[in-house]
Order: sequence, then structure tokens, then C-alpha cells
Amino acid sequence: MRTYVVTGGAGFIGSNNLENLKDVENRDNYTFIRADVCDAAAINKIFQENDVQRVVHFAAESHVDRSIKNPTVFVETNVLGTLVMLNAAKAAWELPDGTFKPDHKFLHVSTDEVYGSLSNPNDYFYETTKYDPHSPYSASKASSDFMVKAFMDTYKFPANITNCSNNYGPYQFPEKLIPLTINNALHGRALPIYGDGKNIRDWLYVEDHAKGIDMVQEKGRLFETYNIGGHNERQNIQIVKTIIRTLQELLPDDDPRKANVSEDLITYVTDRKGHDRRYAIAPDKIKKEVGWYPETCFEDGIRKTVKWYLEHQEWMEHCISGDYQKYYEDMYKNR
Ligand code: DAU
Repeated sequence: MRTYVVTGGAGFIGSNNLENLKDVENRDNYTFIRADVCDAAAINKIFQENDVQRVVHFAAESHVDRSIKNPTVFVETNVLGTLVMLNAAKAAWELPDGTFKPDHKFLHVSTDEVYGSLSNPNDYFYETTKYDPHSPYSASKASSDFMVKAFMDTYKFPANITNCSNNYGPYQFPEKLIPLTINNALHGRALPIYGDGKNIRDWLYVEDHAKGIDMVQEKGRLFETYNIGGHNERQNIQIVKTIIRTLQELLPDDDPRKANVSEDLITYVTDRKGHDRRYAIAPDKIKKEVGWYPETCFEDGIRKTVKWYLEHQEWMEHCISGDYQKYYEDMYKNR
């Protein structure tokens, strides 16, 4: 049996708060460790106490809007935190001759935002596309990717990088477009659309992403980067309208929230600063080399997602009960 360290394991993709992990918390082969990825002593201890064979590094500050308000924490968590993880794994896995223990691997989870924004409709992000990050968030992720690349080039450190498009699905925090829209619509609150609503994102169902990561780590060529995308481009306004339609379909007629859900809630607000226009991944390499493809079509994925949020209203209430209210007011005031 292999030992995995999954950083950000309680987050959206790695699976957002501890409630997300209820399914696995009682299993003998799972341990939750609360530690800061920037805390080198705590991270080193994990590697000293366990024969860790696989690292899947999700832990990151992930929200672009938050990075525009406060870039510093993005550099700390995303850049420094990644370096701490790399150092700890290197120290644990390096043999006296400078090679590494066989079958020990590190996978760094990154984003398509490092490639910048596409202006020509026929262009896609490939693994060879030049990095051109614009937001403090994407600049921090690009820096972390370069640190992983530096470890691979300098030490032959056994790693892979994956760059994914926009994820959606259960357990995503309501600061992000899709859960924010679902939550606001159910409460009859304005649905804020930045700019003209025609910015394009390439949506990937979170479970497909998780599967892709596992397949890259097991079947991908070491030291390589793989882009993971859903080939699923949509304008933001289309996403919001699809969510409204799906909510209207799924909510029973006697549910009082149904009366709230309407396109009249759509409200165009001031654009995000430096808003990238279009992201789109060509997932050709991962398909060809690893055999992965996005299994979930958007229509099924969004239905499953909306259904999940309707069935987990308590989870959402829990998320929006604490600091979220303050965050929301601060982020959306004067927009
Ligand atoms: O592309 C991958 C990236 O996708 C990840 O690396 C990031 O961690 C993740 O947050 C996501 O970034 P985006 O900025 O694309 O996601 P977000 O859900 O914040 O926004 C999606 C689009 O919707 C974007 O064009 C901004 C727009 N938007 C967002 C919010 C929150 C709105 O129009 N209104 C909103 O209230």
C-alpha cells in the first residue's frame, strides 16, 4: 500500500472544509493533519514519520478577486508553500548519490491562467504555450510552477505539473462564479456579472479533473507537464443562464425559493481588474499519452452540481455564515 500526502486535501479539488471529508474520516488508512504548507518544521515531520511515496500538491490560495485585494498571501502560500513541500520531499527522497528513491513522485496541481488570455478564437493553450500570467494569483501559480520546473531541471527531482481549466462541481466555495450564482439565485439576490459577461472559461467537472491527476501520476512521463481541460468553453453569461434554467427545472413547484429564481436577477457590474478574456485548453497530450478524456459533458455536470447544492443547503449555509458575509460585502460593494 502506498502512502500519499495530499496537500489542500480539505479544499475543493483535493476534497473545502472538513465536512467534505466525512466519507473518509473513519477509514484506517486515512489521517487528517492540520498544518500550514509554509510551516517547514510541520511538513518535514510528516515526511520523517511516514514513508511518503506520492505527493499531490493542491494547497493554494485560488481566488483571483482575493489576489487583486491582497497579493501577499498568494505569494506566501503558493510560492513559499510549494518550495517548502519540494524541499521536504527532496530531503526525504534523495539518496546519497543524488538520485531519488524509485517510484516516489510529486505532482504539482496548477492552472491554465499561467498562460494568460487568448485573443484569437482558434487558439488554445498547449503545454508549450509561453507563460504570460496577469493576475497576482496567476503570477504566484506561474512562480510555483517554475520552482517545480527548477527542481526537476536542477536535481532531476521526480515530479509532474498539471495545468487545469476552471473546475466546477460539489463542495466548491461560494466565492466562485457557479456556486455564487446558485446561492444568490436561491436567495433572490443579484447575480453579479463582471463586464459584458462574454469572458470565456473552459469548464471541467471536478471528478474528471481528479481522475486526470491520478492518471498523470501513474501513467504520465516523469518531468512532463500535462494540461487538463474539459473542451467546454462557455461565456459567463451562458453559465449563469444555464444555472437559472436548471434551478427552475429542479426546484419543485411548492419550494418557496423557486419564485426567487429568475433572469431578472442578472446584474452587470464593474469588470474585474485585468480580467482575462478567454481560457481554453487543448487536452491533446494527456489524451494521447495517458488516455484521459473529460467524461462528463457540461449539461450532465451542471445538473449534478446544481442538484448537489440543492441537497446540501446546510453545507452552503455553513460556508456563508462566517467571514463570507464580510468578504462578499467588501468585494461587491461599489461594483
Ligand atoms: O482557469 C482555472 C482557474 O479558474 C483556477 O486556477 C482558479 O483557482 C479558479 O478560481 C478559476 O478562476 P476564475 O477567475 O476563472 O474563476 P471565477 O469563478 O472567480 O470566475 C469565473 C468567471 O466569472 C470569470 O471570468 C469572472 C466571472 N465572474 C466571477 C464572479 C465570482 C463574474 O462575472 N461574477 C462573479 O461574481
